[in-house]
Amino acid sequence: MSKTIKRIGVMTSGGDSPGMNAAIRSVVRTCAYHNIECVGIYRGYEGMIEGDFKAMDARSVKGIINKGGTVLKSARSKEFRTEEGRKTAHQKLTEANIDALVLIGGDGTFTGGLIFNKEYDFPIIGIPGTIDNDIYGTSHTLGFDTALNTVVECIDKIRDTASSHNRLFFVEVMGRDVGHIALNAGVGAGAEEILIPEEDLGLDRLLESLQRSKQSGKSSSIVVVAEGDKIGKNVFELKDYVEENMIEYDVRVSVLGHMQRGGSPSCFDRVLASRMGVKAVESLLEGKTNYMVGLLNDVMALTPLEQAVKGKSKINKELLRVSDIMTT
Ligand code: F6P
Repeated sequence: MSKTIKRIGVMTSGGDSPGMNAAIRSVVRTCAYHNIECVGIYRGYEGMIEGDFKAMDARSVKGIINKGGTVLKSARSKEFRTEEGRKTAHQKLTEANIDALVLIGGDGTFTGGLIFNKEYDFPIIGIPGTIDNDIYGTSHTLGFDTALNTVVECIDKIRDTASSHNRLFFVEVMGRDVGHIALNAGVGAGAEEILIPEEDLGLDRLLESLQRSKQSGKSSSIVVVAEGDKIGKNVFELKDYVEENMIEYDVRVSVLGHMQRGGSPSCFDRVLASRMGVKAVESLLEGKTNYMVGLLNDVMALTPLEQAVKGKSKINKELLRVSDIMTT
């Protein structure tokens, strides 16, 4: 018999992403809708261990749906990886009469939650919050859509100067060890080449592709490089390599970095966050635990957290083919 849930804790953990605040807002307001209390946990597991909690009601989350980042802050906690740290965290939750948790974060966040659940039988539901879109069990993680729009806007700006100076730009984007941001934003921005870890293009094929672009009359090019790409050279080394082997190219590099993590969430991410928050809270109230909320075929779905953590998100082969055709 699952225990009655009267007070839910919500936290954000791992790399922040646009949409996390919208998800926090949804969790808090869904709790209020069901007349149960909600407690914000600051700084992820680190704040949980320290008992850094604050009661949240429907009014306390006003005006944040459009804000990037997370009002609950985020942190990576080494201490939570220890039994002692998790024991302290459990004591703090118990003292605060928190009965269940909504964990907004990535695979590291969920792994910690699963271990905690096994040790203390503590109800948890995960919401996938990361710009990388690298989590199994959802077509979209919170922040992915906003990050794509940020990257496309940046590349559009870079293309202005690239075409003014007849330059080749290598643009490095985030994504940790997957290429979803690079592939989708690369197609969206009309990049001449896209390098992702899932496809090993190789240096020779890169040079051939750039040669083809030049011969087809393109005076400037954009090559989007996923930070986890495995071509064997980072973007600065690629610049040197191309300049050595194709002297006709004037090459520059732009690393977009953490600006991809910021910004006001897109409407898509705000709506996704609102839907996920409702599903997470109501799943807990139905007695469910150890699931991740995800979007599958435009429906809110639950995936066992073990699968979400162990599973691999796959690159879209059809989109990969579109990308090849578009770079003709
Ligand atoms: O997981 C999100 C992410 O932005 C990755 O794309 C990136 O590699 C990583 O976080 C950067 O981590 P940090 O914010 O700790 O530098």
